[in-house]
Amino acid sequence: MKGRWAASLLAMILVSLTLTWSTGALGQFLANGPLPPVPVPPDNPQTDAKVRLGAQLYFDTRLSADNTISCATCHAPKTGWSNPHPTDTGIRGQVGGRNSGTILNAAYMRVQFWDGRAATLEEQAVGPIHNPIEMGETLENVVRKLNGIPGYRAQFNTVFGTDANPDGIAKAIAAFERTVVTGPAPYDRWLAGEKSAMTPAAVRGMNLFNGKGHCSPCHSGPAFSDQGYHNIGAGMDRKDPDLGREVVTKDPRDRGRFKTPGLRNCALTPPYLHTGSEKTLADVIAYYDRGGIANPNLDPLMLPLNLTSREKADLVAFLEALTGTQPNITPPALPEAGPAQEGGSR
Ligand code: HEC
Ligand code: HEC
Repeated sequence: MKGRWAASLLAMILVSLTLTWSTGALGQFLANGPLPPVPVPPDNPQTDAKVRLGAQLYFDTRLSADNTISCATCHAPKTGWSNPHPTDTGIRGQVGGRNSGTILNAAYMRVQFWDGRAATLEEQAVGPIHNPIEMGETLENVVRKLNGIPGYRAQFNTVFGTDANPDGIAKAIAAFERTVVTGPAPYDRWLAGEKSAMTPAAVRGMNLFNGKGHCSPCHSGPAFSDQGYHNIGAGMDRKDPDLGREVVTKDPRDRGRFKTPGLRNCALTPPYLHTGSEKTLADVIAYYDRGGIANPNLDPLMLPLNLTSREKADLVAFLEALTGTQPNITPPALPEAGPAQEGGSR
């Protein structure tokens, strides 16, 4: 009881510090400013040919064992580069345990997945291919399939100077994902001085986000993520809760902690949280208003907010003002299977 009280006190101090800091216009700008150019690792520079190859691989169901599932099956452009299901159904109808994050702005995240188990997009990209419940294929088979398709083999040789291999597949898909980023939102235009870009409700919501709602300590930076892990209680009332970051670190202090997701374009990617249990942004705000779900490791910032119904609606209006443009590409034409390729074509 005493510990919980001390934690609350600490949270209050943190909140007032943040308030002081973020009410200055400059503080706010630095905290949640416009997105900088996409960071690109030196060993995988962007080229048009590589991005085009990555786009084809992204949309190609031949990367899965039974040629039914592509990356776009679960991360579809039309649904905010994610999908509307709480958790995903992969190969042979198998259901996974977590909500798929969007790949929008994944290029800005320093770690990938809810538990941060992959460091880079390159490291992440081949994971789903040989994940038994996502695409269920072996890398060996994928490489063989791709090299049996003359159009792919030629492109890999042009881009990487060698036939398809796991490294090239990962680099091409990652290069494509670095183009799947959000453009300026009403919020960015507002920051740039266009005061009519956000509605009065969204402006009030922004002040709540940085103030009474104390969202900004965790949803900080241009992508609205501190790139850290927190336990906000989601799913912790389940019989067998997902341990989150603890699965990776084996450290019980990480129990129930998940990576803070970015919030740009979140209006387009319901449902929410790693559990997919909140259907709308209003549900997420109601969740925070209740102070999350109690558990021994709950973040001290998770206190009941006592928001009025107008304040809740204002916060939703602010989250909606974070919706910027996003690439809405049509799936590219895919290279045809060559004569040497038996099966595998669609
Ligand atoms: C069967 C559905 C499914 C398929 C197919 C799939 N994914 Fe995912 N993806 C998910 C789920 C679920 C998560 C979240 C899992 C987790 O964090 O543990 C995820 C997470 C990600 C993330 C991390 C997002 C973040 O915010 O951390 C990226 C990037 C990603 N996928 C890219 C891909 C790529 C590239 C492919 C194709 C090679 C792919 N996915 C195929 C379901 C899928
Ligand atoms: C203690 C850190 C913390 C605070 C404070 C916080 N968040 Fe979060 N937020 C997170 C984490 C971590 C997740 C993902 C948790 C999970 O799925 O288990 C999340 C998830 C979300 C999501 C869902 C995003 C998605 O794609 O699923 C939204 C929306 C959101 N937060 C908005 C807010 C708002 C608005 C506030 C203030 C009222 C707020 N957050 C306060 C850390 C925080």
